[in-house]
Amino acid sequence: MKAVALKKDVYWVGALDWAIRDFHGYETPRGTSYNNYLVVDDEITLIDTVKYDFADITLQNISGVVDPARIRNVIVNHIENDHVTSLDRIMALAPDATIYITEKGKRGLERFFDLDKWKMKVVKSGDTLTTGRKTFRFLETPMLHWPDSMVTYLEEDKILFTQDAFGQHIASSGRFDDEFVAEYSDAELDDAVTDYYANILMPFGTMIKAKIAEIEKLGLDIEIVAPDHGIIWRKDPGKVFRMYLDMANGKANLSVAIIYDTMWQSTEKMIVPITEGIRDAGVRVKVIKLRATPTSVAIKEFWKARGALIGSPTLNNITYPSVAEYLTHLRGLRPKNRLVGAFGSYGWGGGAVKEIYDDFKRMGLDAVEPGLQILYRPSLQDEEVCFQFGKEFAQKVIEYHQKF
Ligand SMILES: Cc1cc2nc3c(=O)[nH]c(=O)nc-3n(C[C@H](O)[C@H](O)[C@H](O)COP(=O)(O)O)c2cc1C
Ligand SMILES: [Fe+2]
Ligand SMILES: [Fe+2]
Repeated sequence: MKAVALKKDVYWVGALDWAIRDFHGYETPRGTSYNNYLVVDDEITLIDTVKYDFADITLQNISGVVDPARIRNVIVNHIENDHVTSLDRIMALAPDATIYITEKGKRGLERFFDLDKWKMKVVKSGDTLTTGRKTFRFLETPMLHWPDSMVTYLEEDKILFTQDAFGQHIASSGRFDDEFVAEYSDAELDDAVTDYYANILMPFGTMIKAKIAEIEKLGLDIEIVAPDHGIIWRKDPGKVFRMYLDMANGKANLSVAIIYDTMWQSTEKMIVPITEGIRDAGVRVKVIKLRATPTSVAIKEFWKARGALIGSPTLNNITYPSVAEYLTHLRGLRPKNRLVGAFGSYGWGGGAVKEIYDDFKRMGLDAVEPGLQILYRPSLQDEEVCFQFGKEFAQKVIEYHQKF
């Protein structure tokens, strides 16, 4: 790889991970990239590093611009493993460099490295670093998405380096939004942003709104948004802010996602009439079978739709494990502004549907009760009941959607 200029003297020096398909359990069909940035001024500054396996690549990229030994400042915007695990390789070559990091970042980083041997400078919101002609301004963004997180604004070049925020899991030939859209499409880029937001940032909507408001209040003139994954926003950096605000404010499609699993296809047999009922009410529907779909895709589909129906057979009195696992993922993401319901087939005492409603309660989701349970195989009559169930649920989704 070669360094890629964002502006004069500002370079992307990261690495593409074309092959990764499982990013800590999150399916990454497009691969990803670890973006880090080199800013050449009287003093040389590196912003973030890359995942350990890619240390040689970033060092090569840096070496194509300057001798890494000349790095004087290393800004660590985020301490997650994919961004700090080659820090020691950089520091071995530039042992006199100073690391700029938040207080919480420092406390976390000492769990990875012996920090006594490095110069550390703890920074807070509003602090700046001047490297000659250029000034870096730090803004803490705690829980966006870790307690240590911050973003760094390069004033003269009007670039906001945002670590994981505004990223996407994409490996592609172009580094920039316009290049990606020319090669793929706007829709593909939107999907990558939505997928990333749903799986990583869904719990932090309130924080996202507050931080975007804070950035607006600071009046930062932002020409480029440079995240630590995926493409860099230069054609329309406002687009990703608008998408984040929309999602944080509860934007969803007027549609229903049916997310389910089945042992003997009885729960599955309920789905055809349920989808017909939903469509009869004039609402779009998408069906996701959990064991046939990566969890992160099922999370994204839940997030895109205003309504979701969760289907599960009863296994030994409780929810089918793939459905329970999915609901555990979902609970951690603290979804809001979605209307949910549950259904499933059972043989004797049942239990799955009740448990799913208990999970909805724990999540504080708005639920249409009591759901629908069918004994063993749905009969023709049961199919009519399923149709009505789907139709009535979709009608409630239409009503609910009006609030947004
Ligand atoms: C191993 C096993 C355990 C089951 N445990 C229960 C149970 O505890 N309570 C119940 O109501 N039904 C139980 N059932 C019956 C299923 O819920 C029933 O067969 C249902 O129709 C399966 O739906 P499916 O075809 O969507 O998998 C069990 C079935 C299996 C195979
Ligand atoms: Fe992260
Ligand atoms: Fe990351």
